[in-house]
Amino acid sequence: MKERLLELQTEALAKVEEASTLKDLQDIRVAYLGKKGPITEVLRGMGKLSKEERPVIGELANKVREAIASELDNKKEHLEAIELEKKLEAETIDVTLPGRPVQVGGPHLLTSIVEEIEDLFIGMGFEVREGPEVETDYYNFEALNLPKDHPARDMQDSFYITEELLMRTHTSPVQARTMGEYQGSQPVKMICPGKVYRRDTDDATHSHQFTQVEGLYVDKDVRMSDLKGVLNRFAKQLFGEEREIRLRPSFFPFTEPSVEMDISCKVCHGHGCSVCKGTGWIEILGGGMVHPRVLEMAGYDSNEYSGFAFGMGPERIAMLKYGVDDIRHFYTNDVRFLTQYHKAK
Ligand code: DAH
Repeated sequence: MKERLLELQTEALAKVEEASTLKDLQDIRVAYLGKKGPITEVLRGMGKLSKEERPVIGELANKVREAIASELDNKKEHLEAIELEKKLEAETIDVTLPGRPVQVGGPHLLTSIVEEIEDLFIGMGFEVREGPEVETDYYNFEALNLPKDHPARDMQDSFYITEELLMRTHTSPVQARTMGEYQGSQPVKMICPGKVYRRDTDDATHSHQFTQVEGLYVDKDVRMSDLKGVLNRFAKQLFGEEREIRLRPSFFPFTEPSVEMDISCKVCHGHGCSVCKGTGWIEILGGGMVHPRVLEMAGYDSNEYSGFAFGMGPERIAMLKYGVDDIRHFYTNDVRFLTQYHKAK
């Protein structure tokens, strides 16, 4: 029995030595130390032994058990350490690997231009206002001196929702709304950027939806020279100090007199070339002195107050400033187009 026990110990220890996984160790533990294992079997046969032999074999059996168990524990610790090491190695992060470039977005060219225009006018004391895109017939037309039978109200030109509601065709109704709010009680100096809608067929220079920036300054002694001064500063700041402006007589129902403003051509500086079609000038915006009837309708005494107004299209301005040749680029949102202007400001 003694030999059998020692044999079992040698055998088990050899197996422990060979074991390379935690699972192997568990199997050895079950096989040698388990209830159905050979040592238990030896102990069961102790009944046949003499009184003297029994404690000796009992003690030896315990020692063998302990020796195997302790070896199993040591090996287990060892294997666990190796496993941990392997895991740590596999999880090592190579901090020297270059990172993947992150695609950073940026403001849309139109957003940038509108913000640039806003900053410029805020610098001259204008506040920035908003108005609804679904507008009443009254504010879009009537309050701007466009009576019911005016050709600009033609169904061909406007997106009507009902007889009295339409998608605003310009940002000018915000003039009437702002003045109407104050009812002649105080001066107004505001700009209003926003979307406008027209029943146009889209092509390189037309879009059924585009943006405008409206401007309005009403006070006790506002003159045409103020309009010219403000527009001159605007043009030079946005397009470059070397650019000149000129005002041409024009017509809008809500201004009298009305003007259109041109800036000198960037390419030929007013001499005439193919970019400006030989004229030396490029049209930028419309404006004029607020029509007395528009002032009166909004509750302003036109003998006391006067004002100027203007309206411009940021798309056209961006096209001229950055040489964009098709208005549809602003709305088709090709990333190759958009990303060119992320730093343009
Ligand atoms: N509302 C005009 C348009 O859509 C632009 C405009 C012209 C606005 C003259 C004005 C103005 O305020 O005075 O074409």
